[in-house]
Amino acid sequence: MIRTDINYNNIIDGDDAKRAQKAADDSAELHHTEIDAETFYVTQHYERYTEENHRVWKTMWEKRWSVLEGQASNTYLTGLRAIRLTPDRVPLLFGEVDDPFEPGRKIKGINEYLKELTGWQSRGVPGYLPPKAFFCCLSRREFPSTVIIRPEEKIDYLPEPDIFHDVFGHVPLHADPVFADFLQTYGKAALLAGPEHEEALARLFWFTVEFGLISEDNRLKIYGSGTISSHAESEYALNAKEGKGAGKIQRRKFDLQQVIETPFEIDHFQDIVYVLDSFEQLRDAMTEYANQVLEDTDTPAGA
Ligand SMILES: [Fe+2]
Repeated sequence: MIRTDINYNNIIDGDDAKRAQKAADDSAELHHTEIDAETFYVTQHYERYTEENHRVWKTMWEKRWSVLEGQASNTYLTGLRAIRLTPDRVPLLFGEVDDPFEPGRKIKGINEYLKELTGWQSRGVPGYLPPKAFFCCLSRREFPSTVIIRPEEKIDYLPEPDIFHDVFGHVPLHADPVFADFLQTYGKAALLAGPEHEEALARLFWFTVEFGLISEDNRLKIYGSGTISSHAESEYALNAKEGKGAGKIQRRKFDLQQVIETPFEIDHFQDIVYVLDSFEQLRDAMTEYANQVLEDTDTPAGA
């Protein structure tokens, strides 16, 4: 929901935001064939980002970047460069606009690059989408991205998502064809799945997309957006002592069945993480699981 007590929602029109949020909320009651994801999206009025907004992006980028090159998966880093995310300004999603800092120069939206690479697109939304609306977007290769950015006084902690978490944290992986296919398959399965799969699918998302680790070049690397966008979380994930109990972490080899049986807690550092061998492993496990989910539902696959 849009917070009305803090005034940082300057990038989207209030009426546009209300309309989109209502459409997303109402979709919870609809059959999946009746959901129109187009109605959830809002326009990113890029020219309305203030100097403070761009400065917040830059400050957050610099804080993470100083260590991220050594900590993040190569797939994430390659994706970040491929969609031309830059430290000095909030990213533009679509089209081309005048560079706010260099008159006469144009900047291009990240979707213009993504389209060529995997067909994924980041679409502006006013805030959290309910699960069904969110899954519908993923099934269309569209990632709902909050377009507001946190105010400077809340730079270290904002409970709601913002463009830094959504775009810096999530979108670089959408440039990778294997991860791109995984995420769409996840969205399709989750959209069609019966309520008996809800918890398992939420756990799978949590332990991969949000807090997943991967083994690359015999080293542990981070790729989950919750870890990528948090200094403290990534320190813990990579450096906490292995084991059970306070201050320790269990790094388990990824196994889909085990993942969906593992409860998670949101209010402290993750003390169980799952480590992939490769993104192919994740994609293939998801495809198999999606087939199983679809067999269990009344909805024929492809409907
Ligand atoms: Fe996230």
